[in-house]
Amino acid sequence: MAMKGVILAGGLGKRLNPLTKITNKHLLPVYCKPMIYYPIQTLVDAGISDILIVTGGMHAGEFLRLLGNGKEFGLKHINYTYQEGEGGIAEALGLARHFADNEKIVVILGDNIIEKSIKGAVDEFRKQPKGARILLKKVDDPERFGVAELKGEKLVSIEEKPKKPKSDYAVTGIYMYDRQVFEIIKTLKPSHRGELEITDVNNAYLKKGELAYSILDGWWTDAGTFESLLRANNLVAKSSGKCE
Ligand code: G1P
Repeated sequence: MAMKGVILAGGLGKRLNPLTKITNKHLLPVYCKPMIYYPIQTLVDAGISDILIVTGGMHAGEFLRLLGNGKEFGLKHINYTYQEGEGGIAEALGLARHFADNEKIVVILGDNIIEKSIKGAVDEFRKQPKGARILLKKVDDPERFGVAELKGEKLVSIEEKPKKPKSDYAVTGIYMYDRQVFEIIKTLKPSHRGELEITDVNNAYLKKGELAYSILDGWWTDAGTFESLLRANNLVAKSSGKCE
C-alpha cells in the first residue's frame, strides 16, 4: 500500500528571531542545505514519494522557488498547501485531509533532523491494521518536548513539555497516522498556548488503545531554537563530512 508523507513547515519561528524576520525557519541553513531538505530526504529514504508540504506565513512562496517539483530528491511532483495563522501542529495537519484521501500518512515536522532511516518503523506501521505510531528517543532535556511515560514496555501517557518529566523519552516530531486522525483533530480544543497540540492527538489514540511506538535509531534533533539549530548544524556536519 502506498503511504503518503506530510511535512509541517509553517509557524512563525519566533524563537529564532531575528533569523526568521525575513524568511521561514525551515529555509534556514543547516550545514550545506536548507533545513527542509532533511525531512524531505527522510521521507524519500523511507520509500515515500507522494509528499505534501504544509507551510504558511510571509515566505511560503519561497518553498516553491526552492524545491519546485522535487527533482533534486528524485521526485516527480511535490504538493503544497498553506496554513493561515498560527493554529499549531495539529491544525496544520488538518489541512492534509484532502491530500491523505483516507490513506495512512507519515508526518514529520520540518525542523526535525535525524541520522538514520525510519524505514523499519514505517514498515511496522504498514503492517499495523489501524491506529497510530510515534517514534521515541532518549534525550537529556525531556522537559523541552512531548514526553512518554512508560510502564515496562507499555506506553501509558504523553505529557507536553512537563516540568517534571516521567521519563527521558521524548516524542520526536515523526508521527504515523491512519485516517482517524482527521476526525480526532476536529475534536481538539486549543491549549494554553492557543494551539491545537499534536500531543492531544496522540493521547486520543492512546485512550483508544491504538498508539504504538518505535525507538528511533541514531541521533535526533529539532532546530527551532538557537541552541538546537547550532546542534543540528554540528551533528549534520559531523556525520556528512565535507559539503559538496
Ligand atoms: C513539538 C511538539 C512536541 C515534540 C516536538 C518535537 O514541540 O509539541 O511534543 O516533542 O515538537 O520536535 P514544539 O517544537 O512545537 O515546541
